[in-house]
Amino acid sequence: MNITQYLTEEHRKCDNIYAEVENAVVNEDWERAEKLFREFKEKTLLHFDKEEKVLFPEFEEKTGIVMGPTQVMRMEHEQARQILNQMEEALKNRNKKEFLSLGESLMILIQQHNMKEEQILYPMSDQNLNPSEMVEKMAELGEV
Ligand SMILES: [Fe+2]
Ligand SMILES: [Fe+2]
Repeated sequence: MNITQYLTEEHRKCDNIYAEVENAVVNEDWERAEKLFREFKEKTLLHFDKEEKVLFPEFEEKTGIVMGPTQVMRMEHEQARQILNQMEEALKNRNKKEFLSLGESLMILIQQHNMKEEQILYPMSDQNLNPSEMVEKMAELGEV
């Protein structure tokens, strides 16, 4: 398995969990929504960690590209983390409208972010890094 396959699969898993979160919120099944949201947040943050702690530093070292795509990706992760915290708050307050509107913003951000990774950053990483070594190191951080 290469880096593109491994991390793209994680994007899909997170997308699928979010679809379930959204469903639960729409149906005002709050307990289920909270449980699923915790899982979604945890997995999304773990995925970001794999990129920030393993992939990006190695990418920067091997390609010498330091002020490029990895910096943009880190900034977008930070934006996503902020929205996730706001969503957590909205969920705590059972604010359906606010939660769904934040969720929509997050999905737009994440879809554009993931597309850039899947089409540019991951393929470049597979070309310039050691894919099996990278996948192994990322897997050590846990399973999404
Ligand atoms: Fe990312
Ligand atoms: Fe990613």
